[in-house]
Amino acid sequence: MSQRQIELEVLRYNPETDTEPHFQRYSVLCEDEWVVLDALNHVKATIDPTLSYRWSCHMAVCGSCGMMINGEPKLSCKAFLRDYEGVIRVEPLAHFPIQRDLVTVIDDFVTKLRRVKPYLIPKEEKSIEAGEYLQTPAELKKYKQYTLCINCMLCYAACPEYGLVPKFIGPAAISLAHRYNQDSRDGGREARQQEIAATEGVWECSFVGACSEVCPEHVDPAGALQQVKIKSTIDWYQEHLMPWRNK
Ligand code: FES
Repeated sequence: MSQRQIELEVLRYNPETDTEPHFQRYSVLCEDEWVVLDALNHVKATIDPTLSYRWSCHMAVCGSCGMMINGEPKLSCKAFLRDYEGVIRVEPLAHFPIQRDLVTVIDDFVTKLRRVKPYLIPKEEKSIEAGEYLQTPAELKKYKQYTLCINCMLCYAACPEYGLVPKFIGPAAISLAHRYNQDSRDGGREARQQEIAATEGVWECSFVGACSEVCPEHVDPAGALQQVKIKSTIDWYQEHLMPWRNK
């Protein structure tokens, strides 16, 4: 097993003692197959136990280990050290306030997620005796890709619009709303549209596409947002030019 000396430059910030964030350099002897999260764990275990960051699964499932690695939003458990040369700079996810070191405050994302009602609102209530809400494979295919979101927020860190206009509901929340709107068992589209078809919803998106580029699960939030724009435009035309259709 080969080893390599890696220089990590990690953003540190302790709100109790620091007036502003600063970088701290760590020199770490790393195994070749390590990811950035392994190197941070090594630092915490052997050099500096005060270093703070979030992680849980180490397998790109929980979505908690997102960081900026050399300026790009990445899951640190999926970013292999062998893919980097020279000093590796690790910072908290962009566009979120820093709570401490690499830990960000994610309340804004959680609030937006709640607003779009990312859960099934059944079209019609059924008794348990009436059985499952059945669905064909074609109906499942319409939204399956959007179920893969792990709420890692890399798309928010990559999105220039969210950086400029923090009230923008943003890629993951709108994609999740779209996921439920596309579900044949769901009847909650109208309630979600009030949030996602508003100015701070899809119309804030300028289709840069960076969200889809950084998504570790290939959810394609940019594609979802453009579909929501098309459907919302059709809604508008139907409401204003064909009002009889809504009667
Ligand atoms: S530790 Fe769970 S996604 Fe990285």
